[in-house]
Amino acid sequence: MPSSSIHLFFFFLLFFSSFIFTFSLAADRCNPNDKKVLLQIKESFNNPYLLASWNPKTDCCGWYQLECDEITNRVTALTIFGGEISGQIPPYVGDLPYLKTLIFRKLSNLTGHIQPAIAKLKNLTMIRLSWTNLSGSVPDFLATLPNLDYLDLSFNDLTGSIPPSLAKLTKLNALHLDRNRLTGSIPEAYGQFKGSVPDLYLSHNRLTGRIPKSLGDLDLDLDLIELQRNMLVGDASFLFRNSSRSTFRIDISRNFLEFDLSGAIFPENLGALDISHNRIYGNIPSQITALGNLQGFNASYNRLCGKIPQGGRMGRFDYSSFFHNRCLCGTPLPNNCTSG
Ligand SMILES: *[C@@H]1O[C@H](CO)[C@@H](O)[C@H](O)[C@H]1NC(C)=O
Ligand SMILES: *[C@@H]1O[C@H](CO)[C@@H](O)[C@H](O)[C@H]1NC(C)=O
Ligand SMILES: *[C@@H]1O[C@H](CO)[C@@H](O)[C@H](O)[C@H]1NC(C)=O
Ligand SMILES: *[C@@H]1O[C@H](CO)[C@@H](O)[C@H](O)[C@H]1NC(C)=O
Ligand SMILES: *[C@@H]1O[C@H](CO)[C@@H](O)[C@H](O)[C@H]1NC(C)=O
Ligand SMILES: *[C@@H]1O[C@H](CO)[C@@H](O)[C@H](O)[C@H]1NC(C)=O
Repeated sequence: MPSSSIHLFFFFLLFFSSFIFTFSLAADRCNPNDKKVLLQIKESFNNPYLLASWNPKTDCCGWYQLECDEITNRVTALTIFGGEISGQIPPYVGDLPYLKTLIFRKLSNLTGHIQPAIAKLKNLTMIRLSWTNLSGSVPDFLATLPNLDYLDLSFNDLTGSIPPSLAKLTKLNALHLDRNRLTGSIPEAYGQFKGSVPDLYLSHNRLTGRIPKSLGDLDLDLDLIELQRNMLVGDASFLFRNSSRSTFRIDISRNFLEFDLSGAIFPENLGALDISHNRIYGNIPSQITALGNLQGFNASYNRLCGKIPQGGRMGRFDYSSFFHNRCLCGTPLPNNCTSG
């Protein structure tokens, strides 16, 4: 063999061995503690097919359902979504100390209570345990996760009342507790949310009592308020005062709310308003015609009276937005307004 070929041979040998060396380092990226914990989680779910990529011989940072931090190589996100997983969330999830995102979603055979060991995960910014079959209460310990920005426990079987302590979460931007079987009233403290623009979804529960007046506070910048399909009573007119707030969607339909709508001033950016199926009286204020973004409006099944304001975007809404009221009249309802 000529010496140049030998050089070339050794060059390639060196090149490939360094490549293999780098590759094997990459294979070791996953933190051994995280890997151990993940394999415990897999085992506690009886090694489901959904977690087939969780092979102990490979780098856990490459497993589906996971994300690792680029620098620390610690597991920061666990997303188990839409598959056949049965059983309870195991306590081992509390042993992934760098976890920022925890998602168990669309797993109808996921049962049991919300795992208390989640309280150890102080770095969590997002929790989504939704479309599962979790039961028990909304735990108080969630209020001790200081970085929580997004909390979604919707579409479960949760019971009991809503903990007021969640209002202490200074970074919370979205709270989704809708579609459970929650009872009791909306905590007064929810008017003091420190989060900047919270989306508040409490719909499709069994909430009773009055909506706290604090939810109408001027400083509270709610984007979306969804309280529909509960058993709320009394006044909600304080949601409709002139303020600089940017509330985009308000749905308070299908409750037992009873108040005079006549003095309402709707937020300028309002995109959708559903107040149907309540006991709301008075008339629809003409200021509604000044709302340039209004895409949806429903005031049906109430006790409203008077002429339906014309102009603005009101022409978009058909009679079903207005029917079944006491004495609303004018387009698009068939009955003319007769003076007197
Ligand atoms: C849930 O469990 C039942 C009974 O064990 C099973 O028949 C069903 O396929 C499971 N569904 C899912 C989505 O895992
Ligand atoms: C959270 O992350 C930081 C680094 O970003 C780390 O020092 C800490 O140990 C992590 N875990 C907890 C529970 O705070
Ligand atoms: C949820 O769990 C209950 C029992 O705890 C069961 O009766 C129900 O069928 C489950 N729902 C789904 C969608 O699996
Ligand atoms: C609401 O308040 C602003 C000033 O903050 C004012 O310009 C506007 O005319 C008010 N709108 C109504 C309908 O009163
Ligand atoms: C308004 O609500 C009523 C009652 O739920 C419904 O029948 C109707 O279709 C709705 N109309 C619109 C435009 O959403
Ligand atoms: C309503 O008034 C218009 C004219 O303004 C008239 O053509 C129409 O027949 C009236 N309809 C009813 C139901 O009285």
